[in-house]
Amino acid sequence: MPDPAYGPAPGQFAILAGSGFSDFASLSPGRVPVTAYGAPSAAVREVEFGGRRIWFLPRHGDRHDIPPHRINYRANLAALKVLKVRNVLALNTVGVITPHLGPGQLAVPGQLIDYTYGRDHSIYDGSSASLDHIDFTEPFSEPLRRQILDAARAADVPCHDGGVYAVTQGPRLETAAEIDRLERDGADFIGMTAMPEAAIARELQMDYACLSLIVNFAAGRGANAIHEDIEGSLLEAKTCALRLMQQLFHGPSRGTDGGRRDRSGRR
Ligand code: HPA
Repeated sequence: MPDPAYGPAPGQFAILAGSGFSDFASLSPGRVPVTAYGAPSAAVREVEFGGRRIWFLPRHGDRHDIPPHRINYRANLAALKVLKVRNVLALNTVGVITPHLGPGQLAVPGQLIDYTYGRDHSIYDGSSASLDHIDFTEPFSEPLRRQILDAARAADVPCHDGGVYAVTQGPRLETAAEIDRLERDGADFIGMTAMPEAAIARELQMDYACLSLIVNFAAGRGANAIHEDIEGSLLEAKTCALRLMQQLFHGPSRGTDGGRRDRSGRR
């Protein structure tokens, strides 16, 4: 039995993983909860990590063949809710605009801008009895962000605190002019999956934060071709993320209490 004084309680945490982690838990037993929105991207697997049992769901599917704009974000989050998950650690790869950061590094963004379109972005679709206009002023759970950053510090893994994650539609990467515009908008990182994931997690009253793996300089900003950056840096970023998570799931529990929050996401 795990010691309840350390780490998140069993079942409380899920890793919602992206590129580079699809095969991470492929041999573990899994469950495919029925949801009102259909099936999740893959079976939700239970894995032992840093001494804790946590849930693991690859958002692009086991074969990494579901593109960002086709992911059933509602089913993924609803499946985690069925499993009584309270804290969602979202792993995602991003490109970077901010000059002092680069491929191979980690970041825990503090804000986001949503540029996606045509995705089912809410559990409120007119068919449910209730409707809640969630307060999304702070899109990420600050207690969970702090837990991740504390774990990074304790594991001696450099990890940038804050920055604006611009969520683009994909699956193509951006043009150089689009990156210039995103920079003028205040973006630091560019990825394709944090929305509507973060908002649906908030609607379902789960704590959600991103651990972003920086894998390339944004289009037009690096010396190399983007895919060269990605190939050269994904392993380094992934290794750092694994070290951080070993610490996160090992360290003293300051686990956030998920459901007990007001409409603003504050508690
Ligand atoms: N843009 C959008 N999404 C990404 C990038 C990028 O440069 N790198 C990794 N995911």
